[in-house]
Amino acid sequence: MDRIRIIGGRPLHGEIPIGGAKNAALPLMAAGLLTDERLVLTRVPRLADIVTLGDLLAQHGIAVEKTDAEGRVLSLGGAITNTEAPYDIVRKMRASILVLGPLLARCGEARVSLPGGCAIGTRPVDLHLKGLEQMGALIELEGGYVVAKVRGRLKGATIIFPMVSVGATENLLMAASLADGQTVLRNAAREPEIIDLCHCLTAMGARISGIGTGELVIEGVERLHGATHAIIPDRIETGTYACAVAIAGGEVLLRDARMDHLGAVARVLEEAGIAITELPEGVRVQRRNGLHGADVMTEPYPGFPTDMQAQFMALMTVADGASMITESIFENRFMHVSELTRMGARVNVHGASAIVRGVPQLAGAPVMATDLRASSSLILAGLAARGETVVSRVYHLDRGYEDVEGKLSAVGARVERLKD
Ligand code: EPU
Repeated sequence: MDRIRIIGGRPLHGEIPIGGAKNAALPLMAAGLLTDERLVLTRVPRLADIVTLGDLLAQHGIAVEKTDAEGRVLSLGGAITNTEAPYDIVRKMRASILVLGPLLARCGEARVSLPGGCAIGTRPVDLHLKGLEQMGALIELEGGYVVAKVRGRLKGATIIFPMVSVGATENLLMAASLADGQTVLRNAAREPEIIDLCHCLTAMGARISGIGTGELVIEGVERLHGATHAIIPDRIETGTYACAVAIAGGEVLLRDARMDHLGAVARVLEEAGIAITELPEGVRVQRRNGLHGADVMTEPYPGFPTDMQAQFMALMTVADGASMITESIFENRFMHVSELTRMGARVNVHGASAIVRGVPQLAGAPVMATDLRASSSLILAGLAARGETVVSRVYHLDRGYEDVEGKLSAVGARVERLKD
């Protein structure tokens, strides 16, 4: 298994290109199931999760072709020949559940393995299933699989989510696009990735209003057609590299990043003492003086994202004063704490909150990645630490960050991948 070695202590200067958003790309690929025609996605990031969803679509019968030399353009198309999403693929990536709504809407049936446990929380899919049932689906659980059927087309319905769910909003949005009649999704997620999906579905012929708000109204159509869509830049990759500059010092242009997608992240980083400027070509991040402690609580967009919590905690371990970090989305997303502690961080967890007391410097150590965002937080800590940090179990990182070692080395960090 590969590891990443970091020698800390170098400020970062230059430019880091921000790729297409993983969490936008995955539902957009699932949307390829909604039509027989070609859906062409550009600015596709080269990540393990994209390969996994490509494998899943391929076994549903969809041809997934890379149509450029770099592999950043994917062309999806073809008839669905199999409506089963097997455990072997779904267990690798929970986002596989996103094929359920499209398969059911297109084929009237789907058999999708239930995603199992996950490192960051229990992550049930009850909201996806209840919403589809409200649209007329009959759903049973059989041998670890969700078996869903509908006679004729799904029917429009008014669905009020008891909590905001990105995945459930996406699944039902896709299903509703091909349903009979009007669907209203209340308390829908408003993440930029949802807006991106709405724009792509609209380009495919879907009729959606309320885009960007918590109430989406979808007038179902009988069929959708092909389209070409450019995936939005990854706001979590952007936030992660902004934290890298903040923790290591220096000034970096995050090329193609979008300030308007950063939500609370930009404001919190400014509070911590980081200058963030929107430019036509991206976002410039600069650390001028010291770092100050700042409190955050994770919330649905535009609040502070749970996917930035671990990275922000790494930053706060070397800030002046204390900060309180509260995780309100997932119940087990503090696994990076014990690894950061091995590097000299002072963090106490009390239930859903962690108190971080800044220390002058971290010390490099061998540490282990436990999930995707925890992995990137350990790399950030390594950038600020004295001496050598080696992060193992890097396969978590490869699910969601393209070429971290290349991007950070190009701005002056000493980061390399050790191949086993
Ligand atoms: N929830 C339920 N029932 C459901 C669905 C969700 O109780 O049927 C709960 C979850 O357990 C959680 C909360 O609702 O406590 C929010 O979960 P959500 O459904 O919004 O998360 P998701 O769609 O499974 C996506 C991202 C995650 C990101 C979350 C929150 C993708 C592929 N994944 O997950 O990304 O943390 O939204 O923003 O878009 C990551 O990239 O590292 C990652 C984990």
